[in-house]
Amino acid sequence: MVNQPHGGRLVCRELTGKKREEAIRNAESLPSMTVNSWVLSDIELIGTGGFSPLTGFMGQADYENVVAHTRLADGTIWSIPITLPTTEEEASLFNIGEQIALKGKDGIIYGTITLEEKFAYDKNKEALHIYGTTDAAHPGVKKVYEKEAVYLGGPITLLQRPDHSQFAAYYMDPSETRQMFADLGWKTIVGFQTRNPVHRAHEYIQKTALEAVDGLLLNPLVGETKSDDIPADVRMESYEVILKNYYVKDRVRLVIYPAAMRYAGPKEAILHAIVRKNYGCTHFIVGRDHAGVGDYYGTYDAQLLMAQYEEELGIQIFPFEHAFYCKVCENMASGKTCPHGKENHVHLSGTKVREMLRHGKRPPKEFSRPEVADVLIKGMERKQ
Ligand code: ADX
Repeated sequence: MVNQPHGGRLVCRELTGKKREEAIRNAESLPSMTVNSWVLSDIELIGTGGFSPLTGFMGQADYENVVAHTRLADGTIWSIPITLPTTEEEASLFNIGEQIALKGKDGIIYGTITLEEKFAYDKNKEALHIYGTTDAAHPGVKKVYEKEAVYLGGPITLLQRPDHSQFAAYYMDPSETRQMFADLGWKTIVGFQTRNPVHRAHEYIQKTALEAVDGLLLNPLVGETKSDDIPADVRMESYEVILKNYYVKDRVRLVIYPAAMRYAGPKEAILHAIVRKNYGCTHFIVGRDHAGVGDYYGTYDAQLLMAQYEEELGIQIFPFEHAFYCKVCENMASGKTCPHGKENHVHLSGTKVREMLRHGKRPPKEFSRPEVADVLIKGMERKQ
């Protein structure tokens, strides 16, 4: 049996068919606001149930509970605010109780919100509690400080999913992945979050986890990331090539996760686990510095926080120590399994790898599969 959705029920806030056409026609005469791609990805994930049990953008009680206590107002675990920011000026144009059309920068109406609340919030508090720092150099904190001053809360309706035609073969919503797992006969499924091209340590922890379960959901995040992360299309090619050459076809499925990356480390690890639970996963991998950036979080902070919530969350965490290739073991390993000194371990920083790729140089095969390195080199050439 695939896992129960978070909160017990898979939310669906999407209209289809005639109802959708009618709602779009109506929405054209509603007051409207323009939202960015980050907000659009949140609308999509609320609408399709990826963010179950959320049915809309958070009101003040949910927001404040999440910030202070990592729970929604009703006590359900939730770790990252999902909010709709706007300026005081724009907020004053909208009345409580009315519907607002949510438009993308392309003018398309992606959904509507029924406005229940408008509230001011404390940016320093949000930064400190969610990201653990008020340092504006942190990419997630920077976004908090850039946001407008007022949050609008209320249930949403999804009318148009953002365009993922680029990754059409890998797009599934949570109801579809759940059905797929059932069809495959997978009872235990491990979810893997990533925002990076796949390297040997990723492969090692995925396959180690896979030894203990029926299937692997490789679920790379393809929404907004910081500018120096490798673009999603290049990463997707790296996953395709490694799956083709090194994975058992019937044991893994590649499906995109269309969210924005927050870089909130431990708090984002909880969100990542909740979403994968909604996709039907029974297990979730949390390795070293999960969803981290720079040195804001300790290597295992995400695992420590997850351990506090794991039982109540209802998804089993596979924690992994920092994995590396050891030249003496001639194998992938970690501090748990390799007795040899650091000088025998192949370590490369992300910056170092990007530099090598930019110069057309393959990282060592102990770090990256050659097929993957070639995809990345070509990808970097295209983007320059
Ligand atoms: S993340 O921001 O999405 O977490 P990344 O794509 O690098 O970044 O990591 C994906 C998952 O693999 C995370 O759970 C992370 O902790 C884990 N991971 C990445 N590299 C290693 C490694 N060398 N050893 C152990 N776990 C790792």
